[in-house]
Amino acid sequence: MSDFITSLTDRFGPEAITTGEAIPPRYRQDWAGLAPVLPLGLARPRDTAEVSGILAACHAAGVPVVPQGGLTGISGAAHPEAAGLVLSLERLNVIEGIDADSGTLTAGAGVILETAQEAARDAGLMLGIDIGARGSCQLGGVLATNAGGNTVIRYGMARDHVLGLEVVLADGTVIDGMNTMLKNNAGLDLKQLFIGSEGLLGVITRCVLRLHPLPPARATAFLGCADTAATIALLRAARAALGPMLSSFEVMWPSFFHYMSKATGLGSPLAGEHGTYVIIEATGFDATFTRETLETFFEKAFEDELVEDGVLASSVKEERALWAVRESPAEYETVLGPVIPFDVGIPIPRMEEAVTAIEAGIAELFPTARALSYGHIGDSNLHVVVNVPEAGRDQPHGPVKAKIYEIVRALGGTVSAEHGIGMIKRDYLPYCRSPQEIAMMRQIKALLDPKGILNPGKSFDEEAGA
Ligand code: LAC
Ligand code: ZN
Repeated sequence: MSDFITSLTDRFGPEAITTGEAIPPRYRQDWAGLAPVLPLGLARPRDTAEVSGILAACHAAGVPVVPQGGLTGISGAAHPEAAGLVLSLERLNVIEGIDADSGTLTAGAGVILETAQEAARDAGLMLGIDIGARGSCQLGGVLATNAGGNTVIRYGMARDHVLGLEVVLADGTVIDGMNTMLKNNAGLDLKQLFIGSEGLLGVITRCVLRLHPLPPARATAFLGCADTAATIALLRAARAALGPMLSSFEVMWPSFFHYMSKATGLGSPLAGEHGTYVIIEATGFDATFTRETLETFFEKAFEDELVEDGVLASSVKEERALWAVRESPAEYETVLGPVIPFDVGIPIPRMEEAVTAIEAGIAELFPTARALSYGHIGDSNLHVVVNVPEAGRDQPHGPVKAKIYEIVRALGGTVSAEHGIGMIKRDYLPYCRSPQEIAMMRQIKALLDPKGILNPGKSFDEEAGA
C-alpha cells in the first residue's frame, strides 16, 4: 500500500478508504465503455468535512482525484486514473429537507435522482429533472455534468434547477453557496462555474434544487411522420398548440426504431412504417383539458398532413409501452454489443441534413455498420449510436468520431448537447468552442485548482491538447 493511502486510511478509517483489489469493479469505469482502470485508491467520505480533508491531503501530495457519482455518464468524465484517487460521493446520500413554501429540496450529492424525485412527489411537488438513468445516477453527477434528459423542453437543463450549491475546492476549501431564493443577484453567480464543469473545478457536496408544482395530468401520443421535415413542422406546431404543456418531444428515426423495436422484441405501437416516430408528452393540471388539447392537436396535425398515423395512451401502462423502445438504450450491450455513443447538438433547421449526412457518412466508412439515430429533438439534441459488427470489442472510435464531429462542426452544432466532454470528446472541444473560450476555461481552472489535481486530462483540461 502506498504511504499516501496508508496515511488516508489512518485518518479516515477503512470504511472510507479502500485500495488495490478490494476496490469493487464498479468504481473502475463508467458507462463510456472504456477499459476498466484500477485506481490508486477509492475514497468514500461520509460528509463534507471528510471530502474537504481528503481533498486537502491530495492537494498537498499532488495526487489526482476523479470525482464519481452514479457512473452513468457516457463521456468518461468519471473514468479512474491509475495514479489517482477515485472520490465517490455516494455516502452523502441524505435528503435534508423539502421546503414547500420556497419550493426547494436540499440534499447531499450522493442522493439518487429517483429518490429525490419521489421525495418531491410525496410532498406534492415535482423535481423537473428526468433522465433515463434516474434509478442510478446521483444528484452531484447530474449537476457536475449539467445533465439533460427527457423534459428539458419544458423545465430546462440541470443547471436551471439549481438555487444553491456547496462545493469543495481542490485544496479543501468549502464554498457554502446554499442559497434557497429564486432571486439572488448579489454578486457573481459562482455556482454556475461548477455546474457542467465535470469535476474539473471543484467537488459538489450538497445542493438546493428548485421544485415545481406537480402537474397531476399527463397525456402521451406516439406518432408516425413521413420525414424529418414534417417532424420539424410538427415540433413547431406542438410548441404553438401545447405551449407550456409540452413536456417531451422525442424522435426516433427508422435506423433506431426499426432496429431496436425488433431486436428487443418490444414491437411498434403503429401498424405501418414511417419516416420518423415521435413521442409527444403533455402535462397539465386538468386531466380532461390536457387529454383533449393533445387530441385536438393530433387531429389538426393529421389534417395538415404533419403526421401519418398515431395513438394516444389511455393508461399509465400504455404510456410506458409507448416509451418502451425509446427507453431501451440500456439494452445496447445485449442487442448490439459495444457501441460508440454520441449526444451531439444540431440547430433544428439543419436536423434533416445532419441525420442524412451522418447515416450516409458512416455507411460509406463501414458498409456493415449500424448507425442508430434518435434523440431529444425538441432540445436540438441528436443521439447516434454506432456499432461495427465485425469490430467486436475493438470498435473504430477514432474514424467514426472524426466523421460525425466533422459533420456537426460544418452544420454549426455542438459535440455535446447533454453528456459533457469527459475523456472521449476532449480532442473535439475546439470544434464547437473558440480558442478564446477554451483559454478562459483553462484560466479559471488554474485559479481554482492550481496544481491540476481534479480530473486531469479531461474535458477542457490543458492536457487535452487542442
Ligand atoms: C438517452 C441517453 C443516452 O437519451 O442520453 O437515451
Ligand atoms: Zn439523452
